[in-house]
Amino acid sequence: MNIKKIEYENFRNLSRGFIEPSEGVNVIYGENAQGKTNLLEAIWIFTGGRSFRSAKDLDLIKFKEQYAKVNMKLFAEKRDQDLKIEISKPKRKTYVNEVLKKSPSDYVGKFCSVIFSPSHLSLIKEGPGCRRKFLDTTICQMYPMYAKNVTVYNHILNQRNQLLKSIKKQPGLIETLFVWNEKLAKKAAEIVKFRIQYVNSLKESTECIYRNFTKEKETLRLHYYSNAVPREFLNIDKILSLDEMASFIIKKLESAKQEELFLGYTLIGPHRDDFEVYIDDKKARSFASQGQQRSAVLSLKLAEAELIKKICGKTPVILLDDVMSELDANRQDFILNSIHDRQVFITCCEPEDIGKMADGKTFEVKDGKIY
Ligand SMILES: Nc1ncnc2c1ncn2[C@@H]1O[C@H](COP(=O)(O)OP(=O)(O)OP(=O)(O)O)[C@@H](O)[C@H]1O
Ligand SMILES: [Mg+2]
Repeated sequence: MNIKKIEYENFRNLSRGFIEPSEGVNVIYGENAQGKTNLLEAIWIFTGGRSFRSAKDLDLIKFKEQYAKVNMKLFAEKRDQDLKIEISKPKRKTYVNEVLKKSPSDYVGKFCSVIFSPSHLSLIKEGPGCRRKFLDTTICQMYPMYAKNVTVYNHILNQRNQLLKSIKKQPGLIETLFVWNEKLAKKAAEIVKFRIQYVNSLKESTECIYRNFTKEKETLRLHYYSNAVPREFLNIDKILSLDEMASFIIKKLESAKQEELFLGYTLIGPHRDDFEVYIDDKKARSFASQGQQRSAVLSLKLAEAELIKKICGKTPVILLDDVMSELDANRQDFILNSIHDRQVFITCCEPEDIGKMADGKTFEVKDGKIY
């Protein structure tokens, strides 16, 4: 997958112009607040239709203007393709190869990219919710049926939580709890099975990328936790069947019953899953330096891109926003010169960083214009 040209008009502070990027590394440099991240956002929007910063379409239109347009020409699925987004009131229009699509999300899947932005450091620093979201988002990209499982599971979970709360006022309702246990366990097993398979592949790639990133000086380990499966079965070599998993979950729900009734919410299931990142056998969240945290998240993102390629056969474009700061010369060199066979866009402030790049193109962004 390769972007050949991006034309933009009134997209955030980018007024009107185009770029023709290199097939390899593209460095986008410029001072603060010039439009570098805006350019990445204009590319990313073709991946899932959503901005990675704000979800509102109208925010993407340049102040005082009526519309925003982005047109991407790319080489994908062995041919030239054309994707276009026009944002104006009342809603956005999308075109795939010049054909107006009925639903504004109908172009999803044509283009794929993986983005690193400094906000993704939350993957290491913050609570388990953002790690589960990271897993779910990527698994959904690769297996569309997984998204449905998650929606159904969340619905069952909400209903069960409501019931746990209602039992306090109407104890007789406890008779119906077993029905919800079975429903929850069935969907939970499906989700956990997908996650075990995905996390095991992700683990292997991330650990390998991190080793190369640090020139073998440091090791990264990724550990997945789920209270819905016995620990020894979290490994891909020894995976339980869906029925075995579901009966394990039912047993755990039974033994957690008193505590769940007291708290009024469900304690067992994939909504409590998490993974922990260790660098040199120490928890990254508590002990890793800024540069190590950045390297770890970047390794996770590059591993995600590798898996998309392996499973879907598409090579995602890599978007790296402000990744260079806090990285030493060796790690910067890895980013500029070791990510082969794919198109990369990197933003940075200092043009000096680019001197070390063997191949590729550079663009300067100044006051909403790209040179
Ligand atoms: N809808 C909009 N219309 C016009 N300008 C906008 C709009 N949305 C954001 N901006 C402005 O675009 C400018 C550039 O933002 P951007 O995030 O791309 O900067 P940047 O070059 O990545 O800077 P930094 O190096 O600080 O990350 C900001 O000053 C921002 O206020
Ligand atoms: Mg920026």
